[in-house]
Amino acid sequence: MLVSRQYCFKRSLLETKLIGIPMLSPFYVQPPVQHIQPVFRPPSEGSSLIFQVTNGCSWNRCTYCEMYTDEQKKFRLRDEAELLNEIQRCGESGLQPRRIFLADGDALVLSMRRLKTILQAIQTWLPSVSRVSSYCLPSNLKNKSVDDLIELEALGLKLIYVGAESGDNEILRRIDKGETFDSTASAVIKAHEAGIKSSVMVINGIGGKTYSEQHAMESARLVNLVQPNYLATLVLTFERGQEKVINGYGGQFTELSTLELCTEMKQFIQATNLEKTIFRSDHVSNHLVLKGVLGKDKTQMLSSIQQASDYFRDHPNYQHHTTDY
Ligand SMILES: C[S@@+](CC[C@H](N)C(=O)[O-])C[C@H]1O[C@@H](n2cnc3c(N)ncnc32)[C@H](O)[C@@H]1O
Ligand code: SF4
Repeated sequence: MLVSRQYCFKRSLLETKLIGIPMLSPFYVQPPVQHIQPVFRPPSEGSSLIFQVTNGCSWNRCTYCEMYTDEQKKFRLRDEAELLNEIQRCGESGLQPRRIFLADGDALVLSMRRLKTILQAIQTWLPSVSRVSSYCLPSNLKNKSVDDLIELEALGLKLIYVGAESGDNEILRRIDKGETFDSTASAVIKAHEAGIKSSVMVINGIGGKTYSEQHAMESARLVNLVQPNYLATLVLTFERGQEKVINGYGGQFTELSTLELCTEMKQFIQATNLEKTIFRSDHVSNHLVLKGVLGKDKTQMLSSIQQASDYFRDHPNYQHHTTDY
């Protein structure tokens, strides 16, 4: 995840003409949106307009996650009238964004009524938008039927980012994810049935040394089953100490070395059987940047991982610092 910057957007040329200022190049405006910081978004939403439809995460218990643990990030819904007003003001100010990201941690926790109201307002005031996306916990979709999701897709929701983290149930229990292999698989498959695309995240190193291999194998089994449109791996990062993660493992957690992280990635990629998944490991936490389409680029990716492994084996003092970014 990345902390979002405040993006400026082009005003429409139509509007620059209407207000009578002859301009050769468009000028830029700050969107009239309010955010409680920090706001996180996936790297691929870098140029999206972000509406904070909730503050924080409704679950907020995962042992490794510090994204929404600050005092001001306590979970609550955004005031609906204020949000709708914000969407309207963005439209009236001439913004023409193509993509919108609904923040914070699991915007799809909102009820169908609220989601439909927000998406309808976006369609009304920002007709240039072709894709609305958000983070999504599998449990957010539990009480939403395929027909519900079809309605959301028709109203513009095109992509969900799901933090599977691992396919291994033992690890999921120990990191207090509140989800299982089956709950994650069902949610992603349900979204696909409704025509909503998925981007699935897996955390390299989340099982420590003890569970590394079963993490790789079970995570591959999960992505093979759901065939996500996008797949991203991040490296386990400790921003505020390791205590919660270690406690989840009953005190028995050893962080992977850089070489071991590569080995786990190799096992994972090797075990994938994907048809057409766009794969990225280009998050700021990654020591090895990989991009490609799986399965087409699998052999090439495995060879890049092998090269990196050889380098790290020859340079045992090189250690990727996951606390440094
Ligand atoms: C907002 S969550 C994703 C959506 C949803 N809340 C969920 O957990 O499924 C953002 C993602 O950042 C990643 N993340 C959070 N804390 C991390 C950490 N300490 N190290 C590595 N990745 C982390 C996880 O993959 C997590 O799913
Ligand atoms: S559900 Fe997502 S945002 Fe919430 S605590 Fe877990 S990883 Fe963090």
